[in-house]
Amino acid sequence: MARVRRLLLFLCSIILSCFPVLIPAAVVTLDSIEIFTTHEWLPMKPAVYFRCNGENRTFLPDVKEKHVVYTFKGVESWQPLTELPGIKCKRCGFYEKDALSDDTFDEWEFCASDFTKPDSKYTHFKDKELNATFLCPECTPHGNVSDNSSRPKEDSTGMHWAVTAAIIAVVSSVSIVGLVAAYKYWQKRKRQQEQARFLRLFEETDDIEDELGIGPLSHVV
Ligand SMILES: *[C@@H]1O[C@H](CO)[C@@H](O)[C@H](O)[C@H]1NC(C)=O
Ligand SMILES: *[C@@H]1O[C@H](CO)[C@@H](O)[C@H](O)[C@H]1NC(C)=O
Repeated sequence: MARVRRLLLFLCSIILSCFPVLIPAAVVTLDSIEIFTTHEWLPMKPAVYFRCNGENRTFLPDVKEKHVVYTFKGVESWQPLTELPGIKCKRCGFYEKDALSDDTFDEWEFCASDFTKPDSKYTHFKDKELNATFLCPECTPHGNVSDNSSRPKEDSTGMHWAVTAAIIAVVSSVSIVGLVAAYKYWQKRKRQQEQARFLRLFEETDDIEDELGIGPLSHVV
């Protein structure tokens, strides 16, 4: 039984380790940003970066002046900014690197569900701090998209889910087949072991009979 339990655990861990891959993560790029302040005391150029909790910092090398709108194409060397998983939000923010401790423009819960507009854009604005617009075509729910230009994207998302569902189906059926096979094997092994023990018992009985000089009479019984 221990063997089957081990196998079951093993299969579960395989299935679970597959799942993060199956959950689609949507790529987010920075579309434009404008900062309204720098947190520098001296007239120095700020080093602005974006970071989500637990991830690496992404520096925005071009953003140096306040009250200037910087727009991006989404293919700059530091893009994409981050990825948003399906339903969970991430805590992200814009910061300014400082010699002592970094200053915060703003930090907020960044969610794929923020991208509700049909143009797949989300603007995060904080008074006196910054105005940043993000682009995430994969985040926009397919339901309320009306313009034709985004139809193909809708299809590819649908296909993505179909592929995901197919992979899940294959993985679960393979593991069920594996489990049944393992159980059958275990049953067979157990039967063989019992037979072997039974035969050994017989041999021992034979030995005792030989020693005691009892004839093969008892075998008839
Ligand atoms: C963070 O940066 C380190 C070193 O530059 C790199 O090895 C690692 O893969 C990066 N992590 C992510 C999530 O990008
Ligand atoms: C923030 O930036 C966006 C895109 O540049 C712009 O449309 C919007 O009007 C700005 N909002 C404010 C409050 O500055």
